[in-house]
Amino acid sequence: MKSKTLNLTLALAALALTAWAVAAPEKTHLARSVSTRKMADSVHAVIAADQRVYAETSARLEGAPGHAELLRRAARSIQTHGAEFSYALRSLQPIATANGPQTEAEQTGLAFVAAHPGGNYYTEEELGGRSYFTAIYAERATAAACVDCHNANPRSPRRDLKLGDVLGGIVVRVPLEF
Ligand code: HEC
Repeated sequence: MKSKTLNLTLALAALALTAWAVAAPEKTHLARSVSTRKMADSVHAVIAADQRVYAETSARLEGAPGHAELLRRAARSIQTHGAEFSYALRSLQPIATANGPQTEAEQTGLAFVAAHPGGNYYTEEELGGRSYFTAIYAERATAAACVDCHNANPRSPRRDLKLGDVLGGIVVRVPLEF
C-alpha cells in the first residue's frame, strides 16, 4: 500500500513538473536564446582565430588558397556533415563582389560593426520560411599582412586601409526551431 501511495505521489510530482515546464515557455525561450548566442559566439571565436592565423601566414605559402577561399571551403564541408549552423565572410566594400551583403540583416549588421568594432550585432531573420538567429562580428585588420594584401589587390575598392580598420565581418547563422 505504502509503495503504491509513493508511486502515485511520484507520478503526480512528474505531472506537475511537466505542467510547469509547459506553462513556463518564457523561461524555456530565454534559456534557448542565451545558449544560441553563446553557440554563435563560440563558433565565431574558432573561425576568427583560424582566419587570423591563416591570413597572417598564408601569404608565404605559394599556391595555397587565400583565407577567404579556405573559409568558404570549410563552411561548405561543415554543411555536408550536417552542422546546425552556417557562416560566411562578408564586407560592405569587398574585394570579391560575391562577399557583399546578401540579406538586409547582413547589410545592417556590417554597417553596425563597422561603426562599433568592439560590439557584435545580433538579430533574427526569416529566410526561405525558416527562422534564424544571426550574429555578425567585426573582422579587423589585426596584422600588416591584412592591410598590405588588401590595399595591393587590384580588385579592392579601398587603397587606404590601416591597421585596426574593420575590413568586414563574419556572419554566423543558427536555425531556430519554433
Ligand atoms: C595574401 C592576401 C590577403 C591577406 C594577407 C588577407 N586577405 Fe582578406 N582577402 C583577400 C582576398 C583576395 C579576398 C577576396 C577573395 C575571395 O573571396 O576569395 C579577401 C577577402 C576578405 C574579406 C571578405 C570581403 C572581401 O574583401 O572580399 C574580409 C572581411 C577580409 N578579407 C579580411 C581580412 C583580414 C581581417 C585579414 C588579416 C587578418 C586579411 N583579410 C588578410 C586577400 C587577403
